[in-house]
Formats: sequence, structure tokens, C-alpha cells
Amino acid sequence: MGLVIALNKGRILKECLPLLAACGIEPDEDPHVSRKLIFSSRSGGHQLIITRSADVPTYVENGVADVGVTGKDTILEYGGAMGFYEMLDLGIGRCRMMTAGPVGVPEPAGVLRVASKFVNITRTFYQQRSRQVEVIKLSGAMEIAPLLGLADTIVDIVDTGNTLKANGLEAREKICDISTRVIVNRASMKTKFDEVREFIDRLATVV
Ligand code: PRP
Repeated sequence: MGLVIALNKGRILKECLPLLAACGIEPDEDPHVSRKLIFSSRSGGHQLIITRSADVPTYVENGVADVGVTGKDTILEYGGAMGFYEMLDLGIGRCRMMTAGPVGVPEPAGVLRVASKFVNITRTFYQQRSRQVEVIKLSGAMEIAPLLGLADTIVDIVDTGNTLKANGLEAREKICDISTRVIVNRASMKTKFDEVREFIDRLATVV
């Protein structure tokens, strides 16, 4: 039958292709070269869908893809009805979800203006702290928001910390650790149990 596997464009795709190859799943063309977005595997009858990170859970939740590979940040931000199981931590793409603000500038006492593209993660984090916030949705480059006076704080992914440093910001509170995870559609878990199990087991041995 074969599995339909949804992958992020970018870093995750680059890191995942060797892992998939070690599991015997290789696309029929190089996704880094081809402009195609759906690839067949050379063997096993699998399909690889290359999509934007935020859309991986959507494809998996709706059963269009059986399996998805994406960051924990994307899964947390998606929330959703959870029509999928998180099955495996690939241990790659490790980073942290942090709050950050301008170096040496204390946070204001009143309503905190927080810029992020992770608005759900941001709201949940501050709700748990009973901290009143105004969440400002951005699509990226959050680091410039405090510099330009759009926000007091940002919520973003921090890896080396170089981006924060280069923009005069400092990491403050850690919200959670992030890494790349494998998710499986709930129905596929039943209807394609053997294939899913074999895929997850193989992947677990190569990571
Ligand atoms: C992420 C994040 C930061 C940067 C942090 O952006 O949004 O900007 O990496 O990494 P560092 O701590 O090593 O400097 P990414 O490059 O993934 O692009 P994005 O803006 O599309 O999220």
C-alpha cells in the first residue's frame, strides 16, 4: 500500500532525507533540485509530500498524509483536534522555545506586548503564569519587534543564540525544548498498522 509521508521544506528536509534513505525510502528525484512537491519512493510504493512546516500537521490530521515529520514547535502551535499521535523524537533540530527581550531592559509591569509567530504557544505560556499579554502576530524576524518598539518581548526559537545577540536581545525564560518529531494519523495507525510500525521501528534504529 505504501505510506504518504509529509515533510517540512528546509532544514528538516535536509536532515531527514538521509534518515529516510537509511530506512530504504528514497525519492525518485532530488527534492533539493526538483520543483516537484510530491515524490514517489524508488521502492516500497511510498510518497513524499514536501510542504511548509505549519501545514505538516494539517495534512496528517486530515489523513492526506499517514506520517509527518516536523518540529515540536509546529505541533504545539498547531494544537488542533489531535487526529494524530506523536510517535518518535528524531533528536535532530534541537533548540529551545524562549522568551527574549532587549538586553538590560526590564519587562513593564502592566500588559506585556509579546511578538511571535507562535501565538498559541505564547498565549498558553502567559496564561499559565496569569500574566496579561497583548500578542502581536508576526511571520518571522521577530527579533526586530522590540528594537522598533512594536513589542516588549518576543517568543521565538533559540539555537545558538547568535540571532538574539546580533539584535541586542537576551534570552529570558525557557518555554520548552524543541526537536523534530514523527507524527502518525490516528486512522493510518489502524489501517496501515504493519507499515507504520515497520517505518517507525526502522527510523528509531537509525536515529
Ligand atoms: C530561527 C529563529 C531565529 C533563529 C535562531 O529562524 O526564528 O531567528 O533561527 O537561531 P540562532 O539562535 O542559532 O541564531 P530560522 O532560521 O529557522 O528561520 P525563520 O525566521 O523562518 O523561523
